[in-house]
Amino acid sequence: MFQRVAIQRTQLAVSLGRRHASSFRQPFKFRLINNRVQAVVGVSVVSILAIGAAGAMLNTGMHMWLEYHLRRLKADVDSETRAWGWDSEAERWTGDPERGGTDSALGRKGRQAVRNAWFSDKRPEKYGPLDADEGQGAANMVDALLLRTEASLRSAIAYAETPDIVGNLHPSTLVDLLTKRAAVLERLGPSHLGESRAQYERVWSLLGGRGFQAARIAVKLGDISQRLGDGPEALVWWARAISLVNDDRSGSLVPTVPPAPPSPPVAQRILVSALLSLSAFYAMARQLTQARQIEEGSLDLLRSIPPPESLASASPPQALHSLSLLHRSAILSMHLAEVLYAQRVPVAECLQRLQAAATSSERVAYALVGTSVRDSEQLAPSPEDPLLAEYIDNPYLEKPASDLLRDARRSAADTWNLMGDLTERLGPSHRQLAFEYYQRAIGWAGKTNEKGILEPAGSTLRDDWTLIWRNYTRMKQVVQPVPETK
Ligand SMILES: *[C@@H]1O[C@H](CO)[C@@H](O)[C@H](O)[C@H]1NC(C)=O
Repeated sequence: MFQRVAIQRTQLAVSLGRRHASSFRQPFKFRLINNRVQAVVGVSVVSILAIGAAGAMLNTGMHMWLEYHLRRLKADVDSETRAWGWDSEAERWTGDPERGGTDSALGRKGRQAVRNAWFSDKRPEKYGPLDADEGQGAANMVDALLLRTEASLRSAIAYAETPDIVGNLHPSTLVDLLTKRAAVLERLGPSHLGESRAQYERVWSLLGGRGFQAARIAVKLGDISQRLGDGPEALVWWARAISLVNDDRSGSLVPTVPPAPPSPPVAQRILVSALLSLSAFYAMARQLTQARQIEEGSLDLLRSIPPPESLASASPPQALHSLSLLHRSAILSMHLAEVLYAQRVPVAECLQRLQAAATSSERVAYALVGTSVRDSEQLAPSPEDPLLAEYIDNPYLEKPASDLLRDARRSAADTWNLMGDLTERLGPSHRQLAFEYYQRAIGWAGKTNEKGILEPAGSTLRDDWTLIWRNYTRMKQVVQPVPETK
């Protein structure tokens, strides 16, 4: 009996570590992997041909439009967005980062290949009727598009590397192309991970292992190494990332929480993503002491970064930065609660941590959709409210803000569900409270459709929904038993 509990505890820690392993950059990728593989295998020759044909018909006008679009994006970036470093996190499509557009040194064919990659990445509807077939067909189409993006990038890289071109390129062109290709390979699934890592390693050496961009690549290399089962290598990459953002020249290859946070906002975000990966890594490896050290240290570090006086008076780029950090601290608290639980710390204390995590996740979600939080107990979750216009209208904030909103909703639902689960273990007298927590989880993960039936909200993952739904319905039967009808 004792043993069973112990096993459950560690499994809990493992499941949580995995779930929020790297929600900063590419959330929940672990569970996407299997689908991806199946879908890639299932790509039909027909859909690839269809996409190819449609691609060939893209006319010069569209390519001109894209050049114009990419330049304008760059010209429009405001000083606040720059000050909080959001423009440096945006995707880059080669060329002078100050000017935007593609690198003219790539030549006509090279630039065309880059733009084709952009179109299949961003405007899949131009490549064929995506909505024509739903379900499996659509999934195949998405993967066919990923494969096409990858192929276009590969040929752009081949052009870039021809001897008479490579010397004239803008210094960031090859870096941009290789980074983008590495990211696409990563999304294509486990069989492409090794190749993805090789691309990122090239980027790392092109950057000379210096600067924030290199630090971001180092976090990626850590995450991929971990997914490839190479723990020691992963630790070395995270340590490099942490030293880079803290300007620490000691060359330490053991990752630790730095004594003080770096001041550039970008550096803070990179640092927290490395620490979050580290926390999940130690939790999954069942190295509970290290996990706890990293989590407690990181939470202290985050608390030492002063938030804006009020979110309402902060500029959107500043508010988004602050909300990102708040969300990471929620995930760290959630990791910590699990580690404490596995270390047999009393459940009440674990629940306190979870409560803090749930409330923070909710605050982030409410702030992004513009619900003012006076008493969050009184608020009903809103799994479908749209992002505030101030984020949608800024091309540099739109993506990070909508990713953050999705992650905050997911982590709010996950945390409430976990609280229900732990509360249930306190004994039968706690069932009503556990049910209320499950209800809260359902509030974030589900929505009522027009037939009045609860179904998963758009951003909820199937697997999450299944767990939350089963817990909710099970406890509902216990606390509100339906009278026998017979
Ligand atoms: C209830 O939630 C917990 C925590 O996520 C999960 O481990 C468990 O499997 C869920 N129970 C059911 C019956 O799905």
